[in-house]
Amino acid sequence: MATKYGGLDETLAAEIESVVFEQEGFMRLTQVIRYGGKTSKTGLRPVVLKTGKVWQVESSGADGLQVTNIENDAARELLAEILGHSGSSDIHIQTAQGDVHVRITRKGRVLVSRSKPLQREVTEAMPHDREKQQPLGTFDADILLRGVGIADGDGRIKASMRGKYDQINAFLRIVDATLGSAIPEPLNIVDYGCGKAYLTFAVYFYLTQSRKASVRVCGIDRNSKVIASARKMALNLGVSDEVSFVEGEIGAELLELRPTLALSLHACDTATDAAIAAAIEAKSRYILCAPRCQHELHKSLQGGGAMRAVLRHGIMRERLADLLTDTFRAQLLRIAGYRVRVVEFVDQGATAKNIMLRAEAGIAPRQAEAVEEYLALRDLWGVVPWLESKLGGEAFFS
Ligand SMILES: C[S@@+](CC[C@H](N)C(=O)[O-])C[C@H]1O[C@@H](n2cnc3c(N)ncnc32)[C@H](O)[C@@H]1O
Repeated sequence: MATKYGGLDETLAAEIESVVFEQEGFMRLTQVIRYGGKTSKTGLRPVVLKTGKVWQVESSGADGLQVTNIENDAARELLAEILGHSGSSDIHIQTAQGDVHVRITRKGRVLVSRSKPLQREVTEAMPHDREKQQPLGTFDADILLRGVGIADGDGRIKASMRGKYDQINAFLRIVDATLGSAIPEPLNIVDYGCGKAYLTFAVYFYLTQSRKASVRVCGIDRNSKVIASARKMALNLGVSDEVSFVEGEIGAELLELRPTLALSLHACDTATDAAIAAAIEAKSRYILCAPRCQHELHKSLQGGGAMRAVLRHGIMRERLADLLTDTFRAQLLRIAGYRVRVVEFVDQGATAKNIMLRAEAGIAPRQAEAVEEYLALRDLWGVVPWLESKLGGEAFFS
């Protein structure tokens, strides 16, 4: 009989929940699912950060490896999901006192084996371990990190650059998951609004060193100083043939490189829209953008009636404008033929600007339902988003 625990009986499931959350000595739980020749793995373990204990989740499968930290409630939900899986799987639970291995066969038989009692030292992932699992910890990134000024002369991450370092790692994890195991080659990347080019260089070195891909990257920015210093850095790092920089306005400059993967990290205000428009125009297969400030809609929002109460308060208006701007962007990408996911790419504690639009070309463009949804939302708030105008206005929908 199917239970909320999939193939497991409630006593065994309750025992596992208690080992993970109640008892001392729990180290790690790993679930392995094999299906149709593919394997996916989920690991859950406690880690101690400066801010306290959280749960680290490692998922690996067709999308590559992803590591995230989650709070207690989310960890409980995840464990319930693992225990509720209703197909064949293996669940391995490691504790300081011993291991339990549960195998659920394709026919639904549950086989439990237990190791002899052990006296292991509990290993909790400390920040040092965490660092090694970050994309920038998977290759010798010393020269890169010192070159771009994220690390000091001794190779230590500067306290003032810790946030940027975490953002870049988080961004790279999503690049990794987006590209999956078969990286299209040659892979052309454009970093729109590249600024000091932390991400531009990081994505190049990560993909060439760790993923062994053949990559060309171009960063574009309107600020002549950052472009001059990024070009110098490319020379110093010996990568100026593969990593180039263009000074100018996003969208106005014709780039030699046509992106397969378009990136933009915290490009201000409408620069994110310009990046999305340029990437759509270039038919970039993937578009990953994490917007920063969105002032444009803030001024022009005009909901009447019941909406007036929300718009009266500056903070509400600002947050609503942010949400609506990103919703319009996601919807316009859908209309352009992209499958879009909106994700939080980094902890909200690291930056409040932690939303990322993750888009991949591959659906029919201009689907009536997507256009209708977009127009209804746009007209409800009485606005014409900047991105819509940039994409050609009403003509874009037909
Ligand atoms: C906040 S910085 C982010 C830089 C970099 N992506 C990062 O995360 O470190 C935004 C950058 O976008 C550039 N920018 C803003 N609007 C632009 C535009 N329309 N065309 C080109 N660059 C632009 C600015 O000059 C600035 O360097």
